[in-house]
Parts: sequence; structure tokens; C-alpha cells
Amino acid sequence: MNPPKRFLLANLAWSSEIAAREPDFFTQLAQGQQPRVLWIGCSDSRVPAERIINARPGELFVHRNIANLFAADDANASSVVEYAVHALEVEHIIVCGHHHCGGVRAALSAPSPALPLVNRRIAGLRELAARHRADLDAIDDMDARVDRLAELNVIEQVARLEASPILRDAKRRPQVHGWVFGLREGRLLQLHDAHNAAVAA
Ligand code: CO
Repeated sequence: MNPPKRFLLANLAWSSEIAAREPDFFTQLAQGQQPRVLWIGCSDSRVPAERIINARPGELFVHRNIANLFAADDANASSVVEYAVHALEVEHIIVCGHHHCGGVRAALSAPSPALPLVNRRIAGLRELAARHRADLDAIDDMDARVDRLAELNVIEQVARLEASPILRDAKRRPQVHGWVFGLREGRLLQLHDAHNAAVAA
């Protein structure tokens, strides 16, 4: 069975199961959303936001892109943050990167001529890698180097969010958290916490 067919059948089973267990669930969902958390993650298929933290529909407002990047001049990412902060008034923003990130790896490799748009997207990551060249060059293993840059990238995106006018002008400023997902163990590691900056960086 091809994936779309399989997914439609899986959706039927999932929705029936929830409706049987909680008859009001979907009626309540239809009434509106009040998520308390904005999640900014990578598009990578191995890091499904709701799945890895067992969040239910309605709990997370989500933006995912290659290498979980936030930039004020990126209309897509910043409109999501603006809506989350000013309209939904989320209390937390979680930036979640991950180990083995292909976008991060690309920023440590020669630009691919076949992927001009991706190259443009990750230009900031190349600059970040250049800024931390000594730190990164000291790591011999390429996979470990990618993982380190993925962590530095989370901290960088947290800093960009903290400095953005969207957060500065917020009525109630959300707390920003920086996490990285370790694919080998399926575990989240805190890199930055609003109350306790640079937890494990
Ligand atoms: Co990634």
C-alpha cells in the first residue's frame, strides 16, 4: 500500500479510537486553539514534534524548517512567531534542533549546485560555523562536529528570538528554551533554559 493510502486508513483508525474514548474531543478542538507553547523545529522526518513529547492536538503551535532557523527577515518564520506571541500569547517558545541534522551537515560541506534555495537558507549557518571554527575544528569526528554545530545553532536561534522586536514588544514575554534531540537515544537534552541559561552547552 502506498504511503498516502496507508496514512488515510491510519487517520480513520486514530480518529475513531479517540472519538470512542473521548466523544467531545474533536468538538472541543473545533472551538479554537489555546496552545501554551510554540515549537520551532527542523523539518527532518525523524523529529516529529508532537510525537517525541507526546503532545496532543491543540498543545503545540508549530513551525518547522530546514535546521530550525529563525530570522527576522524570514517572513514565514517571523509571522508564525508574531502570531504565537501577539495573538495566541504563548508562554513558552521551544527551539528544538537535533543531532545528525542534514541542514547543519550541509553548512559544513561545499554548497550543492543542485540546491540553490537550500544554500541560501543555510548561509547563516555557514557564518555561525565560521564564527566557531576553532571549536569545531578541534572535533575530529565529522558526525560529532555536525552535532556540536547543531547545538550551537540552537543557542544562536534562541539568542535571535530573545533579541527580536516581536518578543521585545510582547505584552507577556514568553520564556525561550533551547533543546536538542538525540536520535540515537530518542532523548531531548536542554541546552538553554529561560531561568537557567546555557544548561548544558
Ligand atoms: Co535537521
